[in-house]
Amino acid sequence: MVCKIKDNGIGISPEDQMNIFERFYKVDQSRDRSQGGNGLGLSLVKKIVALHEGQIMVDSTEGVGSTFTVKLKKSAV
Ligand SMILES: Nc1ncnc2c1ncn2[C@@H]1O[C@H](COP(=O)(O)OP(=O)(O)OP(=O)(O)O)[C@@H](O)[C@H]1O
Ligand SMILES: [Mg+2]
Repeated sequence: MVCKIKDNGIGISPEDQMNIFERFYKVDQSRDRSQGGNGLGLSLVKKIVALHEGQIMVDSTEGVGSTFTVKLKKSAV
């Protein structure tokens, strides 16, 4: 099963794409909470997908948007 989640938001730079699945990583370098969020959401999603032996990846262009793809084995759905 392949699930794609797409947005037309600000996009994510190639460097940040390598880091956004790390715990507590926020693109905003101040890492404060004024913009909301703890930098945990994507790391938790990645963990859960991995526990189901699936894969998650991101494809993004700054100023255009992002697409997150989740691949799960049929038996996990
Ligand atoms: N769709 C997106 N478009 C642009 N940037 C994103 C997108 N999703 C995540 N990011 C960036 O990746 C960072 C990490 O995302 P993540 O969901 O792990 O944490 P968060 O949203 O900051 O906090 P939390 O999910 O814990 O409430 C975000 O802070 C944001 O900068
Ligand atoms: Mg989040």
